[in-house]
Amino acid sequence: MEPDMENLIPSKGILKNEELKKYIFETSAYPREHEELKKLREATVHKYGNLSEMEVPVDEGHFLSMLIKMMNAKNTLELGVFTGYSLLTTALALPEDGRITAIDIDKEAYEMGLEFIKNAGIDHKINFIQSDGLQALDKLLSENPKPEFDFAFVDADKPNYVHALERLMKLVKVGGIIAFDNTLWFGFVAEEEETVPVHLRVNRKALMELNKRLASDPRIEISQVSIGDGVTLCRRLV
Ligand SMILES: C[S@@+](CC[C@H](N)C(=O)[O-])C[C@H]1O[C@@H](n2cnc3c(N)ncnc32)[C@H](O)[C@@H]1O
Repeated sequence: MEPDMENLIPSKGILKNEELKKYIFETSAYPREHEELKKLREATVHKYGNLSEMEVPVDEGHFLSMLIKMMNAKNTLELGVFTGYSLLTTALALPEDGRITAIDIDKEAYEMGLEFIKNAGIDHKINFIQSDGLQALDKLLSENPKPEFDFAFVDADKPNYVHALERLMKLVKVGGIIAFDNTLWFGFVAEEEETVPVHLRVNRKALMELNKRLASDPRIEISQVSIGDGVTLCRRLV
């Protein structure tokens, strides 16, 4: 992680009312946060500063956890691990024999979070693959071309989300969910390009194209959820 990237990430979340955000976090999110998730969140802020904004926020973590339990998901995939907040959230939500394949190009951040994952006693559910995301998905497909995952969470390499979708349409079962994170991109998808910080424009454009694509794709049912930075749930129909 490059230090000069610090301070370049705006505060996470599309909810622009800071008081309401504080109310949600203090009333329902923080009191329900698992002890190891809290420790991981604090350790991530300590080590990565402003880059810790990359983690999914606590209320989104609860949403993903609830979703995974409601689906009775057993076999899941995650693209984009960082220090492991969404990974630990998912692993805690899965049943004892559940499994999560977690992919990230960077291993250092994952290794920092591993201490908290181990303390939570769920590291046996995790298969971490250090790799570029699309390459790892292609490898999974070549090893087992049959759909095997109930749920996939995509949170890395935004410009390639559209390409990840095509691979995940083969890897996730019919009826399963592909969840794309950051689809509202700090709210910038609804603002004019000139008002958006230059370093955030490429991803904004990619996410706007993805959103259009998802809205007209007959192979999936979608729900744009306005939590965190925006999560789009895609349920595979065919
Ligand atoms: C937004 S962070 C993930 C945050 C994580 N879900 C959490 O809750 O903490 C994005 C991650 O994607 C990884 N990444 C970026 N480009 C990638 C690529 N092409 N393939 C795989 N991982 C990539 C980065 O190393 C980073 O850890």
